[in-house]
Amino acid sequence: MGKEMGDQVTPILVGLMGSGKSSIGRRLAAHLETGMVDLDHYIVEKAGRSIPEIFAELGEDAFRDMESEALREVLSKPAVIATGGGVVMREANRVLLKSHPPVIWLKCSPESLAKRIDGDSNRPLIAAGDTLKKLQELAEIRYPLYEACSDLILQRDHMKRSEAADAIVLFLKQWNQ
Ligand code: S3P
Repeated sequence: MGKEMGDQVTPILVGLMGSGKSSIGRRLAAHLETGMVDLDHYIVEKAGRSIPEIFAELGEDAFRDMESEALREVLSKPAVIATGGGVVMREANRVLLKSHPPVIWLKCSPESLAKRIDGDSNRPLIAAGDTLKKLQELAEIRYPLYEACSDLILQRDHMKRSEAADAIVLFLKQWNQ
């Protein structure tokens, strides 16, 4: 279901963990004077448990079920949506993303992400082992999936959050024309 002419266009942000989806999403929402939904926060509120608790107590598959349900629920909201890094893993989610453009991939190298998120205890997938290696593995699987879903790929390794938000605002102006 695409946006109608005259609707406020609200992007969906995808990308690996640490790529700035939530913080850039907040900036964009403020700029567009619209709401912002952080899919992970939405899941946590609904489940009444933290992400690490969901993974530890219910398992990753259960988290992915919750994530798919949450995505379906929030897509109709007039809001910038910051997804979790693994949202593209399920085909049904990718179909949903493709049908709600524009989707924007905040592309970062595993190396720059590892510096940002190493030791983050709120991210179960990097809780144990070598963060860079894990991110490289995730990048290999997910980069093609992000690419397949996205209308804009923003390589932002050397871009500040404010610069990334500005670039997206510019893109949205063109998108609207
Ligand atoms: C995940 C990313 C996390 C969160 C969960 C799983 C992933 O979101 O959804 O820990 O599979 O990459 P962020 O991308 O916001 O860190």
